Amino acid sequence: MEFGMILILFVASIPTILAEDISYGTIVVDGTTSIAQTDDNFVCATIDWWPHDKCDYKQCPWHYTSTITLDLSHPILTKAIQAFNRLRIRIGGSLQDQVLYNVGNLKSPCHPFRKMKHGLFGFSKGCLQMKRWDELNHFFNATSVMLTFGLNALYGRHKLKGSLWGGEWDSSNAEDFIKYSISKGYQIDSWEYGNELSGNGVGAHVHADRYGKDLIHPKKIIKELYKGSQFEPLLVAPGGFFNQQWFTKLLQVSGSNVLDAISHHIYNLGAGSDPKLVSKILDPNHLNKVANTFINLARTVQTHGPWSSAWVGESGGAYNSGGPHVSDTFVNSFWYLDQLGMASKYHTKVYCRQTLIGGNYGLLNATTYVPNPDYYRTDQIYGKTF
Ligand SMILES: *[C@@H]1O[C@H](CO)[C@@H](O)[C@H](O)[C@H]1NC(C)=O
Ligand SMILES: *[C@@H]1O[C@H](CO)[C@@H](O)[C@H](O)[C@H]1NC(C)=O
Repeated sequence: MEFGMILILFVASIPTILAEDISYGTIVVDGTTSIAQTDDNFVCATIDWWPHDKCDYKQCPWHYTSTITLDLSHPILTKAIQAFNRLRIRIGGSLQDQVLYNVGNLKSPCHPFRKMKHGLFGFSKGCLQMKRWDELNHFFNATSVMLTFGLNALYGRHKLKGSLWGGEWDSSNAEDFIKYSISKGYQIDSWEYGNELSGNGVGAHVHADRYGKDLIHPKKIIKELYKGSQFEPLLVAPGGFFNQQWFTKLLQVSGSNVLDAISHHIYNLGAGSDPKLVSKILDPNHLNKVANTFINLARTVQTHGPWSSAWVGESGGAYNSGGPHVSDTFVNSFWYLDQLGMASKYHTKVYCRQTLIGGNYGLLNATTYVPNPDYYRTDQIYGKTF
């Protein structure tokens, strides 16, 4: 998909923006050359692990939208996904590193997430039952979803000091889970490793040295288990905030051809509770600030990991579940379209919107499943209605 397509939509929306004081301008798009190329499945949306009792600012906007509780038989959900022909979905989020897969030789008890005062992000470990995993895969197959699944990179590690976690990753649970998925014939486009453990982390962090060394395990597992298969899933990591030193080290330590995509997260609007959220969305200077992150990441990849491509694995605009009555309304499209354009321009191959459903920033409403304005923006550009 070329960047030019995104520009066209901006032209189309100019008269609406200036509803009171209309002035017409002309934008010339030179379609003969392209400045960057995205993946064919550039557009992506996320499904998270947050349970219904995850709350921010005394508001609980997730309802039953998690990987475990989402209503897969809802007719709007199926249609909304199918309208893209082939939507990429990334399953992941804060609680991903605490998920156990109930399969194989799992030694620990497998219980659902529950609130826990001193737990990471205020929750206990959680559990993905294989019955649910079967249901999810049948659903994704029926809706032609291209799946990126985030693995539990904290499994087997322990807290060292503050939010720093160490020890070697125990790959056994993930390996059994991948084996099970292969035995069932489930098509996974990419396995992602870890969530927001880069730099100083969010809830927890792991040194880049350690993380880079451990990345060699999932790569080896994928290579071995998919040997002889028609398709070998990609390995994606670290799914965290960009930190130049940390990302550079990760590429250097893991070495060439280990990481197929280097994924980062973007929340460039600040907290969802910020009363100035709307004015930030409408301020081009504010929106442009994050261009540096894209530029620096592109440079890092070019210099230290040219075998890898840059992905935005999760981006919701405002963090802490998005802004109530902002992130699901028309005004949010100014942030979203700007991001899709900026990411494409700086060689990002995939852009995952937080979320497909869940929180205040879902493309679909968390209780009614009705699409919000950003859903239509995306579908107009990339869906079959374009
Ligand atoms: C996916 O669906 C196709 C038919 O649409 C079917 O042939 C295939 O077996 C399904 N794969 C899985 C893993 O369910
Ligand atoms: C979802 O829709 C309900 C009912 O129309 C509305 O009250 C609520 O604010 C919406 N929720 C979000 C997060 O957009």
